[in-house]
Amino acid sequence: MTVALHEEPLLSVSSETLDPQEWDEIRAQGHRMLDDMIDYAANIRERPVWSPIPDDVRARFREGLPVKPSALGEVYREFSDSIVPYATGNVHPGFMGWVHGGGTAVGMLAEMLAAGLNANLGGRDHIPIEVERQIVEWTRAMFGFPSEASGIFVTGTSIANLMAVLVARTAALGRSVRQHGLGQDGALLTAYTSTATHGCVSKAMDLAGFGRDALRCIETDRLHRIDVAALRTRIVIDREAGLKPFLVVGSAGTVDIGAIDDLCALSALCREENLWFHVDGAYGALGVLSPQLAPRLAGLEHADSIALDFHKWGQVPYDAGFLIVRDGRQHRETFAAPAVYLRRETRGLAAGSPWPCDLGPDLSRGFRALKTWFTLKTYGTEKLGAMITRTCALAGYLEARILAEPRLELLAPVQLNIVCFRYRAENANQVNGDIVADIQESGISAPSTTVLDGRLAIRAAIVNHRTDICDVDALIAAVLEFGAQRSSPGGVLPNVEPSPPLARGK
Ligand SMILES: Cc1ncc(COP(=O)(O)O)c(C=O)c1O
Repeated sequence: MTVALHEEPLLSVSSETLDPQEWDEIRAQGHRMLDDMIDYAANIRERPVWSPIPDDVRARFREGLPVKPSALGEVYREFSDSIVPYATGNVHPGFMGWVHGGGTAVGMLAEMLAAGLNANLGGRDHIPIEVERQIVEWTRAMFGFPSEASGIFVTGTSIANLMAVLVARTAALGRSVRQHGLGQDGALLTAYTSTATHGCVSKAMDLAGFGRDALRCIETDRLHRIDVAALRTRIVIDREAGLKPFLVVGSAGTVDIGAIDDLCALSALCREENLWFHVDGAYGALGVLSPQLAPRLAGLEHADSIALDFHKWGQVPYDAGFLIVRDGRQHRETFAAPAVYLRRETRGLAAGSPWPCDLGPDLSRGFRALKTWFTLKTYGTEKLGAMITRTCALAGYLEARILAEPRLELLAPVQLNIVCFRYRAENANQVNGDIVADIQESGISAPSTTVLDGRLAIRAAIVNHRTDICDVDALIAAVLEFGAQRSSPGGVLPNVEPSPPLARGK
């Protein structure tokens, strides 16, 4: 097909933009939305934690591309009726699945302000980038990193871990790896972590071109901490085989049970062996804000890089992942890529180099820093630290309830805020999997599952600042009730009606 250019010259330019003709209408609509979302957070306990999506609601999201406009009020009604009641549920205090933060109204408001500014934080000289730099500075102070450290917001720890693998790769092979690829030297590089490390680290090795086999997963002790002696032995064996160990990934809070590796021992080993020491601190790293937990994270300050999420224990609304690198020069050398259309100047809007796009793969970037800045300033680190301590105390309460209940069995030591347990039954894996799905569908609570030594565990990760003792009690009661029904032959499931989703439309 040939495209005729300028067939019909544009004789007139319409004055139409996407702005409303009546600003007062959108103002009124905006106030309603704001009120509704504040009510949503304020009254969240009145809702089910999660509701299965009815077929007709799901079908609404299979409709075709809208060509003609719709009134904003109409679209908002659809949001209220079909999206709000079927969201993940992690705002709710009964949500304990996976590792999800609860968010705050402060973070929500900041997100609206950020969208209003519509700033692009890839680069250039504007205050939103200074806000991000201030958070880099605050994070540096939190972890006791030196002034040359650099940091950047990313979507989440999965990406931050990938970026750390890339920085470690550049440090090992030199900048030429960016031009020539991994080559023969790269094929010899090996990385080390424990069997309890999150799967995104092995994915990072895959994405970085090393392949998953280049990651050695070392066994753990009873508390799921990496066996440092076994790690040392494996490094020796690999060196003797002509391989080139380059990276150790420690965990500050494993995803399954919340184990913290011996970070001091790992950092000492990495110094001795001249290896890059990265810590996956997705949720656990912010434990440094809790005076009770901070001593257990000793050694974090010696890491070469740390990945963490402000959207988990930090309660910043999704997403707000972060990577901090001790040596900012190595960080920049991994990602900076000059281009004529991104020329840096010493004055004007194109000043302010280095730009955040020199520190990661993204060029266009949103203002994630603002919701984090509002959260840190509004609550302060003392209060956030106290909230982190409180979630661990709730996990301790849940542990005590399990230990006092003969029908339940604790499946792993409780070290932070994660509790793994099960209902004692024949065919326990099947029964406990069913119990979790039953509880989720009931809307009472939302734990998730994991498998520990072949045993399916009900896993409660208490991350949400709203979770309270009554939510832990409700989880236990639901496990016992559904467990009794599921494990008694021919048992009838309790008639727990999910609460109807509240209508939000106005
Ligand atoms: C220990 C750990 N590492 C990495 C991740 C992945 O983080 P994200 O989901 O932010 O990419 C998680 C997620 O829960 C985690 O718990």
